[in-house]
Amino acid sequence: MFTDRLPFYPLAHRPTPLEDLPRLRAALQGEAPPGRVPRLLIKRDDQTGLAAGGNKTRKLELLLGDALRQSADTLITVGAPQSNHCRQTAAAAARAGLRCVLVLGGSAPMLEGGNLLLDRLLGAEIVWAGGRDRLEVMAEVAEAERAAGRAPYLIPYGGSNAVGAAGYAAAMEELCQQLADRGWTAEHVVVATSSGGTQAGLAVGALAQGFSGRLHGISIDAAADRLRPWLAELAGETARLLGLDLAFAADDFIVHDAYLGGGYGVVGDAEREAIVLLARSEGILVDPVYTARALAGLLDLIRRGHFRADETVVFWHTGGLPALFAYAEQLGEPRPAGRSRSSRV
Ligand SMILES: Cc1ncc(COP(=O)(O)O)c(C=O)c1O
Repeated sequence: MFTDRLPFYPLAHRPTPLEDLPRLRAALQGEAPPGRVPRLLIKRDDQTGLAAGGNKTRKLELLLGDALRQSADTLITVGAPQSNHCRQTAAAAARAGLRCVLVLGGSAPMLEGGNLLLDRLLGAEIVWAGGRDRLEVMAEVAEAERAAGRAPYLIPYGGSNAVGAAGYAAAMEELCQQLADRGWTAEHVVVATSSGGTQAGLAVGALAQGFSGRLHGISIDAAADRLRPWLAELAGETARLLGLDLAFAADDFIVHDAYLGGGYGVVGDAEREAIVLLARSEGILVDPVYTARALAGLLDLIRRGHFRADETVVFWHTGGLPALFAYAEQLGEPRPAGRSRSSRV
């Protein structure tokens, strides 16, 4: 593994499954130009096994390794109220016996649900940043922790620095091994991209191994022109950390930013359709904020004839399941007036 030389705290079940999506593929026949529905595989990083799983597990194995090497006793990170990264960080801290402080944007909601409920159950302390800059609040929290005699370890948004992203260089190695073991090839990998660590890490792993497929990031919340230079910078730092002699430029990254919809965390028709289509064709759930948007992007690319039937596309499922429960109102079926819930059973 590329990461063998880095401090590591094991958290994930690996390898995560690589599965075929034959019924989703069949459902798309007739919706794309003839000969344009590729074979579809899914890489199940929603099954990493740490408190409902997700892509942050692989990043946290290295971040936690680094934190413990520095004798930290407290993890501090930042995110949105329904951050999957924060929930996974809280779980990682609990597993390693560390304290966890989460700096979340906005203020406490009336009802705690989804990831926020899990943050509390996992024992994290939550600091609400209100309208203030969350990184500024995180720096203040860290100062207060130090003043109290503790040793905090700060983790950036999404765990996306070189240490975290290195987990995805190794994940690409894992995918390549799974493909090789089965005698399969993949021409495309599609993944949700936001703070960039997942896509940057995958890019490092892909280049280091000579993976010839194309890596598509479906942007969740940023214009491609803004994200691509950052991906290049982060991939370069990650390669250096891993001792790999690789260079990256913004143009090396494919980022699709046509699927930003109503903005971060806003569930629209495209996300709803993606959730329901995958759930009902394959029995697999995606989350409303990241993986539904990424899947909606993939479905749109397929329907536009972007791929060929003799190609294979891997959809990298990055998790996020608990957020579904915080979006019940936007996702629930409208109930016909006058029918009680029990009459439907
Ligand atoms: C479920 C899920 N998928 C994808 C992402 C995006 O990953 P990255 O921030 O590494 O770009 C996140 C980030 O929080 C996430 O929670």
